[in-house]
Amino acid sequence: MIRKLAWDEELAGRLIDERKTADGALMPILHALQETFGYIDRAAIAPIAEALNISKADVHGVISFYHDFRAAPASGRALKLCRAESCQAMGCEDLIDHLRRAHGLTPDSETDGALRIETVYCLGNCALSPAALIDGAPIGRLTAAKLDALVREAGQ
Ligand code: FES
Repeated sequence: MIRKLAWDEELAGRLIDERKTADGALMPILHALQETFGYIDRAAIAPIAEALNISKADVHGVISFYHDFRAAPASGRALKLCRAESCQAMGCEDLIDHLRRAHGLTPDSETDGALRIETVYCLGNCALSPAALIDGAPIGRLTAAKLDALVREAGQ
């Protein structure tokens, strides 16, 4: 798993300052915070709003609209499952059904469990559909058996 830094107001402030004059600065700022800390702390909302001269509600709205932005540190391992066209054609929905039926796991549900499952749309690995990422590492030709092994390894 890629370790993220603990939340740091000063570093967050620097990341905001370095990007605040860019065109469409909000998304690069949010991505930088998420990339660095693994989530966007509530404490960042006011300084972002101030730096960009927008409302705190606008910042909060964007954070909650996009799946990839987290408002709290993530726990456990992250399994990103592709549900775009090629992976659909190769059975990703059957795999998602399998996760639900065999392990009681549902993509994109808030969980404190050892394995967090997130939906993504195309990982650029269509030739190896159904495709996924586990903590950022690609997995191709995903099967129910591979999923079972990942769930077991995560201790879910
Ligand atoms: S459609 Fe799944 S990796 Fe491209």
